[in-house]
Amino acid sequence: MGQVPQNSLPLLKYGIVGDGRVARHFIAYLEQLRLPYAQWSRKAAAANGITVEERLADCDVVLLLVSDSAIEPFAQEHPALREKRLVHFSGALVTPLAQGIHPLMAFGPTLYGPEVYETLAFVAEAGPLKFHEVFPSFPNPVFEIPAELKPRYHALCVLAGNFTVVLWRKLFEEFAGRLGLPAEAALPYLRRIARNLEENPAGALTGPLQRGDLATVTKNLQSLEGDAFQEVYLAFVRACAPALAEKAGLSKP
Ligand SMILES: NC(=O)c1ccc[n+]([C@@H]2O[C@H](COP(=O)([O-])OP(=O)(O)OC[C@H]3O[C@@H](n4cnc5c(N)ncnc54)[C@H](OP(=O)(O)O)[C@@H]3O)[C@@H](O)[C@H]2O)c1
Repeated sequence: MGQVPQNSLPLLKYGIVGDGRVARHFIAYLEQLRLPYAQWSRKAAAANGITVEERLADCDVVLLLVSDSAIEPFAQEHPALREKRLVHFSGALVTPLAQGIHPLMAFGPTLYGPEVYETLAFVAEAGPLKFHEVFPSFPNPVFEIPAELKPRYHALCVLAGNFTVVLWRKLFEEFAGRLGLPAEAALPYLRRIARNLEENPAGALTGPLQRGDLATVTKNLQSLEGDAFQEVYLAFVRACAPALAEKAGLSKP
């Protein structure tokens, strides 16, 4: 079967609720795709008095791009929005009030180019509303998971995506601080780790845990005495190298 021509796809208008990071990124993407949208935020409403129902009246799809804790209360307080195709982007929340479609990406303060937005994957929870009914003209890869697997899916994203940021920020701060090293010195190392993970995840781990080098692990742990990250290091030894932890008497009592 041939590809559906772009111009035969329904042209939907998007209503964006919120003006945080994801709302800014998603609006940038909609503009790149030349798709129509309207935005409502409580800050703008406080200034102009326009309600969300008024502002998004002619939108087909409403994206609740607000904090996770605000998604359900907002949908409950605005039942008219539930008559539209109502979607949220939370990776952790499952609610019957809106369809969850999670963009698997880190949205920071700086906007990205089209190549980033167009290639990011959306992970949709299985539900009544399908990705193509919400984003029919989007070129992105999309995957579906059962709603009950979402908590696990999101925990993995946080562990891998967010916690590595915490670890790298720790290195940058200590390089620039007590070690007097430029943070940029670590960038080729960071890029290579990402590249190795991409190219060969099974071979990407290097260092004392991979080698089973107990003497170095012990020295590393001693150097972190009094630092909360000593516990983090220990948790990695226990999770990634239980036999080594056992041998060193580092297993949990
Ligand atoms: N950031 C990411 O990398 C990322 C990635 C994937 C998915 N997501 C998901 O995207 C959604 C938005 O996240 P974000 O990073 O954009 O958050 P954010 O930058 O903290 O922005 C939150 C937005 O929600 C609004 N808000 C909070 N409570 C509200 C309420 N009761 N009524 C109306 N508006 C309210 C805030 O308005 P005020 O400024 O007025 O408080 C702000 O516009 C979340 O579901 C998040 O899980 C985020």
